[in-house]
Amino acid sequence: MSHLPIGVFDSGVGGLSVLNALREALPHERFVYFADTAHAPYGERGDAYVAGRTRAVARHLLERHQIKALVVACNTATAAAIHELRAEHPALPVVGVEPALKPAVAISRTGHIAVIATRGTVESRKFESLRASLAAQAVFSIVPCDGLAGAIERDDAAQIGSLSQRYLEAAGVFGSAPGQIDTLVLGCTHYPFIADELRRHAGAAVRFIDTGAPVAQQARRLLSQAEVLAEAGDGGVALLCSGAPDALDAAAARWLRLPAERAAAVA
Ligand code: DGL
Repeated sequence: MSHLPIGVFDSGVGGLSVLNALREALPHERFVYFADTAHAPYGERGDAYVAGRTRAVARHLLERHQIKALVVACNTATAAAIHELRAEHPALPVVGVEPALKPAVAISRTGHIAVIATRGTVESRKFESLRASLAAQAVFSIVPCDGLAGAIERDDAAQIGSLSQRYLEAAGVFGSAPGQIDTLVLGCTHYPFIADELRRHAGAAVRFIDTGAPVAQQARRLLSQAEVLAEAGDGGVALLCSGAPDALDAAAARWLRLPAERAAAVA
C-alpha cells in the first residue's frame, strides 16, 4: 500500500501551505490535493454544510484515488467533521489541523496571544474545549475573520489589506511589553500566504505560528505506524478541484514550492 497517494483536502488554496510542509517531510510520497473551490469558503457556512462536503470529498478521494491516508488541511473542516470522518473510515489514517494554541503558550513571553481563524473554527466545540484547557496559562484574544479566506481565494489585495488591518486592530495591541500580544496564531491554512500583509499590522517582533510542520510530522508518524510510508520514488502532486482549475493552477504556481501537475476539475 505504500505506493498509494495521500489525500490532502481544503476548501480552496489554503491547504497548499500544509502541502508544502508535507512534501518537505515526506519527499517520496505522492499527493492528491483536492480544493473544494466550488463550495469555498467554508468559514461562514455552518457545521452541517462543511461536514457534508468533507465527507463527500473523503469518499471521492478514497473511491477514485485509493488514498492510503487523508490530511484535512483545513481548520474549519477539522473542527466540523474530523470525528465523523474517523468513525466513517476507521481503517484510514486521518490527520486534521487545529489552531496551534499549545505551541503559542509555550513560546509567548507576555502570555497574551492573538488567534485569527474562521468563524466556523472559533465557534466550534472543539476549539472551545482547546481554549478552555489553556485558559489558566494565557490570555487569548480570538478574532473570527469573516471574508478573509474568501479574499485570499480571489487574490483580492485591497480586501486582504483592509480586512487584515481591521482584524488585527480588533485583536489588541501587539508588542513585547507586559500586557501586549507577542504571539499570533494563524488558525486558518489560508493565512500563511498573507503573512507579509499581517506582519505590516502586527509588527516585526511578533511571533507567527502556523501548523504546517507539526501536521506533516504527525502524518509521518501515522504512516510509519501503519507501515505505509513511501521510502523511495520522486513523489509528486496531482491537483483536483470542484470549481474552475485556473485559479488553483495560478495559486499552485505562486505558492507551491515544488511543481505539480495541472489541476483537473472534478464534477
Ligand atoms: N483554510 C480553511 C481553514 O483552515 C478554510 C477557510 C475557509 O474556507 O473559510 O479553516
